[in-house]
Amino acid sequence: MPKVQIKHLTKIFGKRQKAALKMVHEGKGKNEIFEKTGSTVGVYDMNLEVNEGEIFVIMGLSGSGKSTLIRMLNRLYEPTSGDVIVDDINVTKADKKQLLEVRRKKMSMVFQNFGLLPNRTILENTEFGLEIQGVPAAERRERAEKALKNSKLISFKDQYPSQLSGGMQQRVGLSRALTNNPDILLMDEAFSALDPLVRREMQDELLDLQASVKKTIIFITHDLNEALRLGDRIAIMKDGFLQQTGTGEEILTNPANDYVKSFVEDVDRSKVLNAETIMVPGLTVNAEADGPNVALHRMSEEEVSGLVATDASRKFMGYITSDAAVKARRDKLPLTDVVSDMPTVKPDTLVADILNIIYDAHTPVAVVDDDNRMLGIIIRGAVIEALAQTDEGEGQENE
Ligand SMILES: Nc1ncnc2c1ncn2[C@@H]1O[C@H](COP(=O)(O)OP(=O)(O)OP(=O)(O)O)[C@@H](O)[C@H]1O
Ligand SMILES: [Mg+2]
Repeated sequence: MPKVQIKHLTKIFGKRQKAALKMVHEGKGKNEIFEKTGSTVGVYDMNLEVNEGEIFVIMGLSGSGKSTLIRMLNRLYEPTSGDVIVDDINVTKADKKQLLEVRRKKMSMVFQNFGLLPNRTILENTEFGLEIQGVPAAERRERAEKALKNSKLISFKDQYPSQLSGGMQQRVGLSRALTNNPDILLMDEAFSALDPLVRREMQDELLDLQASVKKTIIFITHDLNEALRLGDRIAIMKDGFLQQTGTGEEILTNPANDYVKSFVEDVDRSKVLNAETIMVPGLTVNAEADGPNVALHRMSEEEVSGLVATDASRKFMGYITSDAAVKARRDKLPLTDVVSDMPTVKPDTLVADILNIIYDAHTPVAVVDDDNRMLGIIIRGAVIEALAQTDEGEGQENE
């Protein structure tokens, strides 16, 4: 069963909802409806299912209804019609007591502007959510401290928000949302106010968090690159209407309509493709166990001018060129003495970033994991090919 089910969910703002709905049915646009009725279509007839443990991204331009949708999930906004079902609880039909329970145990919200209170310390801010839920002082302090410890913020607990950078403040916002250990995190443009580097760090942290604690995350952004990076699945909205739901790959390769197509056309593929997608298996030599003759033999067999050197435990060491191997044979040196530098990247390094590295490099680039194990290599041609495919793709569309 899906974790969250959204069924025919609609929100009309304003007094003349019936008239507005009638105009929606007649296919009238949002602006016309507002002019005639003074009511605004926030979200119209949304149907979605979010699975347990996935990061589900909601995208769309400003005013498309993303915040309205996410706020109906915990009934910060009361839906006009439709249902939100979380596990087996129909949130839209829940009484006060049930709703409180859902907000306490099931869902937490992380806001864009961090939502921190300026005159409260980091610790006081972190326990704020528990405080309004009526959790006793000693318990909420303990839980807040634990959450801060987990996110390595505990040493800042007595500081005030203004003393922290934007990234740190958002970490506090995230910690606060995690104090009640919710199943579901609702994140509304949580990283949008951060500068690009910090933003990327926060995205990494979110992916780590997701991998370790398996929350279900509903994440709003209007940045397509962020959506592609984080989302297991993505939904695209326009003027309150759902346009398409799918994986990033599905949406890029198979946009449901012209709107989605033009929406995703702007993506720079060099910012989407990463090392993992363009690497090839690398030929290696065990520099600790093998000698120069083995290396030279392999190079001539495989018709390559160099090999990636690893140690006996298959950890990455560097590169051995044929010249270096010849020198080792002549001077009776072990291969470990003739290993040269080779640039490395991580599997998720974007092609855009690899481009700069590979232009200066005299060797291929090695892709290594966090334990320094060799996963593959990237040759210059592959990078150029990956980028060229974009242009080719676009060219074909124009024909
Ligand atoms: N409280 C409200 N009262 C009246 N209209 C509202 C209210 N909240 C949102 N709206 C309207 O509903 C529509 C959807 O707004 P919403 O805030 O959900 O968009 P959004 O996709 O989150 O945009 P943004 O990217 O700017 O945050 C907009 O036309 C907005 O003006
Ligand atoms: Mg919004």
